[in-house]
Amino acid sequence: MRAQSATVAGVESPPATEAILLVGGKGTRLRPLTVHTPKPMIPAAGVPFLTHQLARAKAAGIEHVVLATSYLAEVFEPHFGDGSELGLHLEYVTETDPLGTGGALRNVVHRLHSAPGEPVLVFNGDILTGLDIRELVGTHRRTGADVSLHLTRVEDPRAFGLVPTDADGRVTAFLEKPQTPEEIVTDQINAGAYVFTRSVLDTIPAGRPVSVERETFPGLLAAGAHLQGMVDSTYWLDLGTPQAFVRGSADLVLGRAPSPAVPGRHGEHLALPGADIAPDAKLSGGSCVSAGAAIGGGARIDGSTVLAGAVVEPGAVVRNSLVGAGARVGARTVLDGAVVGDGAEVGADNELLHGVRVWCGARIPAGSVRFSSDQ
Ligand code: GDD
Ligand code: MG
Repeated sequence: MRAQSATVAGVESPPATEAILLVGGKGTRLRPLTVHTPKPMIPAAGVPFLTHQLARAKAAGIEHVVLATSYLAEVFEPHFGDGSELGLHLEYVTETDPLGTGGALRNVVHRLHSAPGEPVLVFNGDILTGLDIRELVGTHRRTGADVSLHLTRVEDPRAFGLVPTDADGRVTAFLEKPQTPEEIVTDQINAGAYVFTRSVLDTIPAGRPVSVERETFPGLLAAGAHLQGMVDSTYWLDLGTPQAFVRGSADLVLGRAPSPAVPGRHGEHLALPGADIAPDAKLSGGSCVSAGAAIGGGARIDGSTVLAGAVVEPGAVVRNSLVGAGARVGARTVLDGAVVGDGAEVGADNELLHGVRVWCGARIPAGSVRFSSDQ
């Protein structure tokens, strides 16, 4: 089916047809979830997170996607293949040594078919957003920018790239992860989706690590290039931490975060075929239980993700937490804001709260961790 065109200021604007997805990061802040699985392949609402991004790109008219992989690169292709199941043409390019965000882009440009003046979409691989991709491409064409950036506003911008703009939305500076209060000049941040005019990608130096945020964008600005910002207030979340990942998955299940790839109807919970859930277990808050996982009698699962083959025993309470593949949560144990790594076992009658992370394969004996009620 031919992709429809977006109308920008009354002018028909053809969509971009090619995208690069940056999926090579180590996902350090998400450990232990990323010990065996690269961040974009961790299931969110029952499917690898990347599926949601690919499905949204497809819906916006993208036909060809190049995945720039590095960390645990070998797991992407066996899952997504040539992309035909998603109606896309997918290609994979692996960096033996990570090249950084800019180096990764330069390293894959030879796979693009776009002409020098055509727009190419670029995504960070950990962003869940309702961004109107066609609108970003339309803005790019209308303003004649070299690069257009999706910007969003956040309360605390320190963990992001700060992107002040002038009255016309033109980017005036790019300040990655500001270190001093003086650098916090705006609450507008780089939301991790860009449209590059293809020829601009060709100017990134080849064969060495380059940060698009620390080198390419500041360098382009210094050289007088036109970087255009598009601020919008649609759903946006960087799934770089366990709490954000769990939140994002729940929002997909609840239908608060848009994706054509959620494998089921939106609702209070999603139980995938092959999940074994006791009739009196209570699942709420966008919880998702993967195939082969078992939830025991009287257990309560709220706003949480239980991955394939995990077992939550009777009477356990799992709130805003993630239980990794093949992990076990003992009877009456309470998890709140916790992560249990793949294959770990938390014995009965424990209480793991406030961002506790249990490493993959670890064993916590029954009744050994408790928080007192005044903490
Ligand atoms: N191929 C490849 N090679 N990909 C990489 C590499 C690399 O060496 N390093 C990072 N990536 C990918 C990650 O997998 C991720 O999808 C994306 O690049 C961004 O890396 P993160 O590690 O998630 O960066 P961040 O969240 O700290 O900051 C970035 O995203 C913010 C928005 O969420 C920056 O772009 C910030 O400016 C931005 O505000
Ligand atoms: Mg990130």
